[in-house]
Amino acid sequence: MTTEERCIRMDKICYSVGGRTILTDFDLLLEQGVNRTILGVSGSGKTTILKLILGLLEPDSGSVSINGLTITGLKEAQYREQRKKIAIVFQGGALFDSMTVGENVGYRLFEEGRLAEREIEEIVREKLRFVGVEPALDLYPSELSGGMKKRVAIARALAADPDYIFFDEPTTGLDPIGVYNICNLMQRLQADGKTTLMVTHDLATAFATSQKFTFLHQKRLVFDGSETEMRACSIPEVREFLLPTEQSLFV
Ligand SMILES: Nc1ncnc2c1ncn2[C@@H]1O[C@H](COP(=O)(O)OP(=O)(O)OP(=O)(O)O)[C@@H](O)[C@H]1O
Ligand SMILES: [Mg+2]
Repeated sequence: MTTEERCIRMDKICYSVGGRTILTDFDLLLEQGVNRTILGVSGSGKTTILKLILGLLEPDSGSVSINGLTITGLKEAQYREQRKKIAIVFQGGALFDSMTVGENVGYRLFEEGRLAEREIEEIVREKLRFVGVEPALDLYPSELSGGMKKRVAIARALAADPDYIFFDEPTTGLDPIGVYNICNLMQRLQADGKTTLMVTHDLATAFATSQKFTFLHQKRLVFDGSETEMRACSIPEVREFLLPTEQSLFV
């Protein structure tokens, strides 16, 4: 595969909803093997970016390409193969309450109908083992803690063996051990060859899991670079965002 076929690219994306502009001329490059975090205050359009890449939202102008195929303007069926390379762990996890943990993790594989039930069960167990919640196989989401739900949501994302995994605020609402577990999981996924794209306002998790950072402010990309470049950058909004961590005793 060429470099162009091993990346996700957003090119000059403009997006508005209900007469309000959310993104203007937004560019993003997610290369396989280079893990990235998108930072920005609440409401700045971070989740919107993930939805635009997944084709859940259609940009007003600009384009999105996945592994070399421009998906903008195509029907879902025309880019299904590329779409399958991406899995997302939604803000809040979004598990099906009426299904057990095992059914949640395996449901997409069941729907596809390519594999035998026994093979699916094996994959489900393997993914749950990877995230450390295999004993919860037969429990329902309502019986799990917040941290466990997040891990089950990650196991579900892994079931389809994606190249890219998107994480929408994966550490929000977790205690320090839960945050550590998620960071550790993301690092293991990266060691396993997966590329992660996370959106968050949690800088510590961002720095622990990413090499590149995109900062979104007032509809635009205002910074794109490494942690060192970000810490050295003089853009006021970025400085303001970094300030609380630089003053913290824990950093
Ligand atoms: N259907 C909609 N109609 C009108 N405005 C919307 C709609 N969906 C999203 N928005 C607006 O778009 C903006 C970006 O939303 P988005 O969910 O992408 O923000 P975010 O950066 O993910 O925020 P958070 O950190 O709180 O999750 C928000 O200001 C939101 O109010
Ligand atoms: Mg969001």
